[in-house]
Amino acid sequence: MLCLGIEGTAEKTGIGIVDDKGNILSSIGKSLIPSTGGIHPREAAEHHSKHIPELLKEAFEEAGVEAKDIDLVAFSQGPGLGPALRTVATAARTIALTLGIPIVGVNHCIGHIEIGRLTTGAEDPVSLYVSGGNTQVIAFEENRYRVFGETLDIAIGNMLDQFSREVGMGHPGGPKVEELAEKSSNYIRLPYTVKGMDLAFSGLLTAALRKYETGAELEDLCYSLQETAFSMLVEVTERALAHTKKREVLLCGGVAVNKRLRTMLEKMCDGHYAKFFMPPPEYCGDNGAMIAWLGQLTYKYKGPDRIEDTTIIQRYRTDQVDIPWMEETKE
Ligand code: ATP
Ligand code: FE2
Repeated sequence: MLCLGIEGTAEKTGIGIVDDKGNILSSIGKSLIPSTGGIHPREAAEHHSKHIPELLKEAFEEAGVEAKDIDLVAFSQGPGLGPALRTVATAARTIALTLGIPIVGVNHCIGHIEIGRLTTGAEDPVSLYVSGGNTQVIAFEENRYRVFGETLDIAIGNMLDQFSREVGMGHPGGPKVEELAEKSSNYIRLPYTVKGMDLAFSGLLTAALRKYETGAELEDLCYSLQETAFSMLVEVTERALAHTKKREVLLCGGVAVNKRLRTMLEKMCDGHYAKFFMPPPEYCGDNGAMIAWLGQLTYKYKGPDRIEDTTIIQRYRTDQVDIPWMEETKE
Protein backbone atom coordinates (compact mmCIF):
# COMPACT_ATOMS: atom_id res chain seq x y z
CA MET A 1 0.00 0.00 0.00
CA LEU A 2 1.48 3.34 -1.07
CA CYS A 3 1.09 6.66 0.72
CA LEU A 4 1.85 9.99 -0.91
CA GLY A 5 2.89 12.62 1.65
CA ILE A 6 2.86 16.38 1.11
CA GLU A 7 4.86 18.63 3.44
CA GLY A 8 4.54 22.41 3.44
CA THR A 9 4.43 23.95 6.90
CA ALA A 10 6.98 26.63 6.05
CA GLU A 11 9.34 27.39 3.15
CA LYS A 12 10.02 23.85 1.98
CA THR A 13 7.68 21.96 -0.35
CA GLY A 14 8.25 18.22 0.07
CA ILE A 15 6.70 15.20 -1.59
CA GLY A 16 7.36 11.63 -0.48
CA ILE A 17 6.08 8.19 -1.35
CA VAL A 18 6.39 5.49 1.33
CA ASP A 19 4.93 1.98 1.46
CA ASP A 20 3.28 0.38 4.49
CA LYS A 21 6.51 -1.45 5.44
CA GLY A 22 8.36 1.86 5.73
CA ASN A 23 10.28 1.65 2.44
CA ILE A 24 10.89 5.18 1.16
CA LEU A 25 10.30 5.05 -2.61
CA SER A 26 10.87 8.74 -3.18
CA SER A 27 11.43 11.96 -1.28
CA ILE A 28 12.02 15.21 -3.08
CA GLY A 29 11.63 18.83 -2.16
CA LYS A 30 12.27 22.41 -3.03
CA SER A 31 12.99 25.29 -0.64
CA LEU A 32 12.06 28.89 -1.05
CA ILE A 33 15.21 30.96 -0.57
CA PRO A 34 14.21 34.58 0.03
CA SER A 35 16.52 37.18 -1.54
CA THR A 36 16.16 39.43 1.49
CA GLY A 37 14.66 39.08 4.95
CA GLY A 38 12.82 36.08 6.32
CA ILE A 39 9.99 33.90 5.09
CA HIS A 40 6.69 35.62 4.33
CA PRO A 41 3.71 33.26 4.86
CA ARG A 42 2.06 34.29 1.58
CA GLU A 43 5.27 33.76 -0.39
CA ALA A 44 5.66 30.31 1.17
CA ALA A 45 2.09 29.47 0.08
CA GLU A 46 2.79 30.68 -3.47
CA HIS A 47 5.98 28.62 -3.52
CA HIS A 48 4.01 25.47 -2.62
CA SER A 49 1.27 26.01 -5.19
CA LYS A 50 3.85 26.72 -7.89
CA HIS A 51 6.02 23.66 -7.19
CA ILE A 52 3.63 20.91 -6.01
CA PRO A 53 2.62 19.86 -9.58
CA GLU A 54 6.19 19.41 -10.88
CA LEU A 55 7.40 17.81 -7.63
CA LEU A 56 4.52 15.31 -7.80
CA LYS A 57 5.60 14.32 -11.28
CA GLU A 58 9.23 13.93 -10.16
CA ALA A 59 8.20 11.91 -7.11
CA PHE A 60 6.19 9.48 -9.25
CA GLU A 61 9.15 9.11 -11.63
CA GLU A 62 11.63 8.53 -8.82
CA ALA A 63 9.37 5.88 -7.24
CA GLY A 64 8.59 4.30 -10.61
CA VAL A 65 4.85 4.52 -9.97
CA GLU A 66 1.84 6.34 -11.42
CA ALA A 67 -0.87 8.36 -9.72
CA LYS A 68 -3.28 5.41 -9.98
CA ASP A 69 -0.92 3.29 -7.82
CA ILE A 70 -1.29 5.63 -4.82
CA ASP A 71 -3.64 4.28 -2.11
CA LEU A 72 -3.55 7.09 0.46
CA VAL A 73 -2.64 10.77 0.65
CA ALA A 74 -1.25 12.42 3.80
CA PHE A 75 -0.47 16.09 4.40
CA SER A 76 1.09 18.28 7.07
CA GLN A 77 -1.96 19.67 8.91
CA GLY A 78 0.09 21.82 11.33
CA PRO A 79 1.78 23.47 13.10
CA GLY A 80 2.96 26.03 10.60
CA LEU A 81 2.20 29.14 8.58
CA GLY A 82 -1.54 29.46 7.86
CA PRO A 83 -1.44 30.25 4.13
CA ALA A 84 1.23 27.58 3.51
CA LEU A 85 -0.78 24.93 5.38
CA ARG A 86 -3.98 25.81 3.53
CA THR A 87 -2.30 25.43 0.14
CA VAL A 88 -0.97 21.99 1.03
CA ALA A 89 -4.31 20.86 2.49
CA THR A 90 -6.11 21.99 -0.67
CA ALA A 91 -3.65 20.08 -2.86
CA ALA A 92 -4.08 16.94 -0.72
CA ARG A 93 -7.89 17.15 -0.82
CA THR A 94 -7.82 17.62 -4.59
CA ILE A 95 -5.65 14.52 -5.01
CA ALA A 96 -7.82 12.44 -2.64
CA LEU A 97 -11.06 13.41 -4.36
CA THR A 98 -9.66 13.08 -7.90
CA LEU A 99 -8.13 9.65 -7.30
CA GLY A 100 -10.94 8.53 -4.98
CA ILE A 101 -8.50 7.58 -2.18
CA PRO A 102 -8.51 8.21 1.60
CA ILE A 103 -6.82 11.23 3.16
CA VAL A 104 -5.15 11.83 6.55
CA GLY A 105 -3.85 15.07 8.07
CA VAL A 106 -0.81 14.60 10.31
CA ASN A 107 1.22 16.54 12.86
CA HIS A 108 4.47 17.85 11.37
CA CYS A 109 6.51 17.58 14.59
CA ILE A 110 5.52 13.95 15.08
CA GLY A 111 6.54 13.39 11.45
CA HIS A 112 10.11 14.38 12.37
CA ILE A 113 10.14 11.89 15.26
CA GLU A 114 8.61 9.00 13.31
CA ILE A 115 10.93 9.36 10.29
CA GLY A 116 13.74 9.49 12.87
CA ARG A 117 12.61 6.20 14.43
CA LEU A 118 12.07 4.62 11.01
CA THR A 119 15.47 5.56 9.57
CA THR A 120 17.59 4.95 12.69
CA GLY A 121 15.91 2.04 14.46
CA ALA A 122 15.51 4.03 17.70
CA GLU A 123 12.60 2.49 19.61
CA ASP A 124 11.54 4.73 22.49
CA PRO A 125 13.87 7.74 22.57
CA VAL A 126 14.00 11.11 24.21
CA SER A 127 13.82 13.28 21.07
CA LEU A 128 15.50 16.64 20.75
CA TYR A 129 13.59 18.32 17.93
CA VAL A 130 15.42 21.43 16.77
CA SER A 131 14.38 23.41 13.71
CA GLY A 132 13.59 26.87 12.38
CA GLY A 133 10.16 26.95 14.02
CA ASN A 134 10.44 24.48 16.89
CA THR A 135 12.67 23.55 19.83
CA GLN A 136 11.25 20.74 21.95
CA VAL A 137 12.42 17.86 24.12
CA ILE A 138 9.87 15.10 23.62
CA ALA A 139 9.36 11.61 24.98
CA PHE A 140 6.58 9.03 24.79
CA GLU A 141 4.50 8.62 27.94
CA GLU A 142 0.90 7.47 28.43
CA ASN A 143 -0.08 7.15 24.79
CA ARG A 144 1.28 10.52 23.65
CA TYR A 145 4.52 12.24 22.77
CA ARG A 146 4.84 14.55 25.77
CA VAL A 147 6.77 17.81 25.57
CA PHE A 148 9.13 17.82 28.56
CA GLY A 149 10.85 21.05 27.64
CA GLU A 150 10.64 23.70 24.96
CA THR A 151 11.68 27.19 24.02
CA LEU A 152 9.85 29.95 25.83
CA ASP A 153 10.43 32.40 22.97
CA ILE A 154 12.06 31.77 19.58
CA ALA A 155 13.29 28.47 18.13
CA ILE A 156 17.01 27.70 17.95
CA GLY A 157 17.01 27.67 14.11
CA ASN A 158 15.14 30.97 14.02
CA MET A 159 17.75 32.44 16.38
CA LEU A 160 20.60 31.32 14.11
CA ASP A 161 18.74 32.57 11.01
CA GLN A 162 18.02 35.98 12.55
CA PHE A 163 21.61 36.39 13.71
CA SER A 164 22.90 35.49 10.27
CA ARG A 165 20.54 37.91 8.52
CA GLU A 166 21.36 40.79 10.88
CA VAL A 167 25.11 40.40 10.35
CA GLY A 168 24.64 40.13 6.58
CA MET A 169 25.33 36.40 6.06
CA GLY A 170 21.87 35.68 4.59
CA HIS A 171 19.35 32.87 5.02
CA PRO A 172 19.42 30.10 6.20
CA GLY A 173 21.81 31.00 8.98
CA GLY A 174 22.50 27.60 10.60
CA PRO A 175 25.04 26.34 8.04
CA LYS A 176 26.76 29.74 7.82
CA VAL A 177 27.12 30.07 11.59
CA GLU A 178 28.46 26.49 11.73
CA GLU A 179 31.08 27.17 9.06
CA LEU A 180 32.41 30.31 10.76
CA ALA A 181 32.25 28.75 14.24
CA GLU A 182 34.74 26.10 13.13
CA LYS A 183 37.36 28.82 12.65
CA SER A 184 37.35 30.00 16.27
CA SER A 185 37.81 28.70 19.79
CA ASN A 186 37.64 32.05 21.51
CA TYR A 187 34.62 32.01 23.80
CA ILE A 188 32.81 35.31 24.38
CA ARG A 189 30.48 35.19 27.36
CA LEU A 190 26.79 35.19 26.34
CA PRO A 191 23.56 34.73 28.36
CA TYR A 192 22.67 31.12 29.14
CA THR A 193 18.93 30.71 29.76
CA VAL A 194 17.58 27.38 31.01
CA LYS A 195 14.57 27.16 33.30
CA GLY A 196 13.97 23.60 34.41
CA MET A 197 13.55 21.79 31.11
CA ASP A 198 12.60 24.93 29.16
CA LEU A 199 14.95 27.32 27.41
CA ALA A 200 14.98 30.74 25.78
CA PHE A 201 17.05 32.14 22.91
CA SER A 202 16.01 35.74 22.28
CA GLY A 203 18.22 37.20 25.04
CA LEU A 204 21.15 35.29 23.60
CA LEU A 205 20.40 36.65 20.13
CA THR A 206 20.17 40.25 21.33
CA ALA A 207 23.40 39.96 23.34
CA ALA A 208 25.29 38.44 20.41
CA LEU A 209 24.08 41.18 18.05
CA ARG A 210 25.10 43.85 20.56
CA LYS A 211 28.61 42.34 20.80
CA TYR A 212 28.78 42.34 16.99
CA GLU A 213 27.85 46.03 16.85
CA THR A 214 30.55 46.84 19.38
CA GLY A 215 33.23 45.17 17.29
CA ALA A 216 33.47 41.51 18.37
CA GLU A 217 34.86 39.16 15.70
CA LEU A 218 32.13 37.34 13.77
CA GLU A 219 33.93 33.99 13.97
CA ASP A 220 34.22 34.25 17.77
CA LEU A 221 30.55 35.18 18.02
CA CYS A 222 29.42 32.27 15.83
CA TYR A 223 31.53 29.94 17.97
CA SER A 224 30.17 31.38 21.21
CA LEU A 225 26.60 31.38 19.96
CA GLN A 226 26.82 27.67 19.12
CA GLU A 227 28.62 26.70 22.34
CA THR A 228 26.08 28.55 24.49
CA ALA A 229 22.90 27.52 22.67
CA PHE A 230 23.97 23.91 22.20
CA SER A 231 25.04 23.54 25.84
CA MET A 232 21.54 24.68 26.79
CA LEU A 233 20.00 22.07 24.47
CA VAL A 234 22.25 19.33 25.85
CA GLU A 235 21.40 20.28 29.44
CA VAL A 236 17.64 20.01 28.95
CA THR A 237 17.97 16.75 27.00
CA GLU A 238 20.12 15.31 29.79
CA ARG A 239 17.52 16.32 32.34
CA ALA A 240 14.70 14.72 30.33
CA LEU A 241 16.78 11.56 29.95
CA ALA A 242 17.34 11.34 33.71
CA HIS A 243 13.67 12.10 34.39
CA THR A 244 12.18 9.58 31.95
CA LYS A 245 14.89 6.93 32.50
CA LYS A 246 14.89 6.20 28.78
CA ARG A 247 18.00 4.73 27.14
CA GLU A 248 17.95 6.42 23.73
CA VAL A 249 18.30 9.97 22.39
CA LEU A 250 17.09 10.96 18.92
CA LEU A 251 18.22 14.24 17.41
CA CYS A 252 15.87 15.52 14.67
CA GLY A 253 14.80 18.66 12.78
CA GLY A 254 16.81 20.88 10.44
CA VAL A 255 19.37 21.99 13.06
CA ALA A 256 20.22 18.32 13.71
CA VAL A 257 22.67 18.30 10.78
CA ASN A 258 24.99 20.54 12.83
CA LYS A 259 28.16 18.57 13.61
CA ARG A 260 29.03 20.39 16.81
CA LEU A 261 25.57 19.83 18.29
CA ARG A 262 25.80 16.15 17.38
CA THR A 263 29.21 15.77 19.02
CA MET A 264 28.06 17.46 22.23
CA LEU A 265 24.94 15.30 22.47
CA GLU A 266 26.86 12.12 21.70
CA LYS A 267 29.25 12.87 24.54
CA MET A 268 26.39 13.43 26.96
CA CYS A 269 24.76 10.15 25.85
CA ASP A 270 28.04 8.26 26.41
CA GLY A 271 28.11 9.54 29.98
CA HIS A 272 24.60 8.17 30.56
CA TYR A 273 25.05 4.87 28.70
CA ALA A 274 22.30 6.04 26.35
CA LYS A 275 22.31 5.27 22.63
CA PHE A 276 22.48 8.26 20.32
CA PHE A 277 20.53 8.34 17.02
CA MET A 278 20.26 10.80 14.18
CA PRO A 279 18.48 10.35 10.84
CA PRO A 280 20.40 10.68 7.55
CA PRO A 281 20.72 14.42 6.72
CA GLU A 282 18.02 14.31 4.02
CA TYR A 283 15.49 13.25 6.68
CA CYS A 284 16.57 15.76 9.36
CA GLY A 285 14.96 18.83 7.78
CA ASP A 286 11.41 19.02 6.45
CA ASN A 287 10.63 16.31 3.91
CA GLY A 288 7.65 14.63 2.28
CA ALA A 289 8.68 11.10 3.33
CA MET A 290 8.08 11.87 7.01
CA ILE A 291 4.52 12.94 6.23
CA ALA A 292 3.92 9.87 4.05
CA TRP A 293 5.26 7.49 6.74
CA LEU A 294 3.24 9.13 9.52
CA GLY A 295 0.25 8.96 7.14
CA GLN A 296 0.75 5.18 6.92
CA LEU A 297 0.88 4.80 10.72
CA THR A 298 -2.10 7.10 11.27
CA TYR A 299 -4.24 5.37 8.65
CA LYS A 300 -3.39 1.89 9.92
CA TYR A 301 -4.34 2.70 13.51
CA LYS A 302 -7.04 5.34 13.14
CA GLY A 303 -8.41 5.07 9.62
CA PRO A 304 -9.03 7.98 7.23
CA ASP A 305 -10.12 11.53 8.02
CA ARG A 306 -13.45 12.81 6.78
CA ILE A 307 -12.86 15.59 4.25
CA GLU A 308 -14.58 18.05 6.61
CA ASP A 309 -12.01 17.18 9.29
CA THR A 310 -9.05 18.09 7.11
CA THR A 311 -8.98 21.78 8.01
CA ILE A 312 -5.57 23.01 9.06
CA ILE A 313 -4.49 23.27 12.72
CA GLN A 314 -2.07 26.17 12.81
CA ARG A 315 -1.00 25.65 16.43
CA TYR A 316 -1.09 21.87 16.38
CA ARG A 317 0.64 20.66 19.56
CA THR A 318 2.83 17.57 19.64
CA ASP A 319 0.99 16.27 22.73
CA GLN A 320 -2.49 16.64 21.15
CA VAL A 321 -2.18 13.39 19.21
CA ASP A 322 -2.76 9.82 20.46
CA ILE A 323 0.05 7.49 19.39
CA PRO A 324 -1.47 3.98 19.48
CA TRP A 325 1.39 2.36 17.52
CA MET A 326 4.01 2.97 20.24
CA GLU A 327 2.49 0.57 22.76
CA GLU A 328 2.61 -2.15 20.13
CA THR A 329 6.30 -1.48 19.41
CA LYS A 330 7.13 -1.62 23.09
CA GLU A 331 5.43 -4.99 23.71
P1 ATP B 1 9.84 23.30 11.37
O1 ATP B 1 8.58 23.55 10.60
O2 ATP B 1 9.92 21.89 11.88
O3 ATP B 1 10.14 24.29 12.39
P2 ATP B 1 11.69 24.36 9.45
O4 ATP B 1 10.72 24.97 8.54
O5 ATP B 1 12.50 25.23 10.28
O6 ATP B 1 10.99 23.24 10.30
P3 ATP B 1 13.83 22.50 8.91
O7 ATP B 1 14.33 22.04 7.58
O8 ATP B 1 13.42 21.45 9.88
O9 ATP B 1 12.67 23.49 8.56
O10 ATP B 1 14.94 23.40 9.61
C1 ATP B 1 15.51 24.54 9.04
C2 ATP B 1 16.42 25.17 10.07
O11 ATP B 1 17.62 24.38 10.22
C3 ATP B 1 16.87 26.58 9.71
O12 ATP B 1 16.68 27.42 10.82
C4 ATP B 1 18.36 26.41 9.41
O13 ATP B 1 19.14 27.54 9.71
C5 ATP B 1 18.72 25.24 10.31
N1 ATP B 1 19.93 24.57 9.87
C6 ATP B 1 20.19 24.00 8.68
N2 ATP B 1 21.47 23.55 8.62
C7 ATP B 1 22.03 23.83 9.84
C8 ATP B 1 23.33 23.64 10.41
N3 ATP B 1 24.30 23.07 9.73
N4 ATP B 1 23.52 24.07 11.68
C9 ATP B 1 22.54 24.65 12.39
N5 ATP B 1 21.31 24.87 11.90
C10 ATP B 1 21.05 24.47 10.64
FE1 FE2 C 1 10.17 20.76 10.40
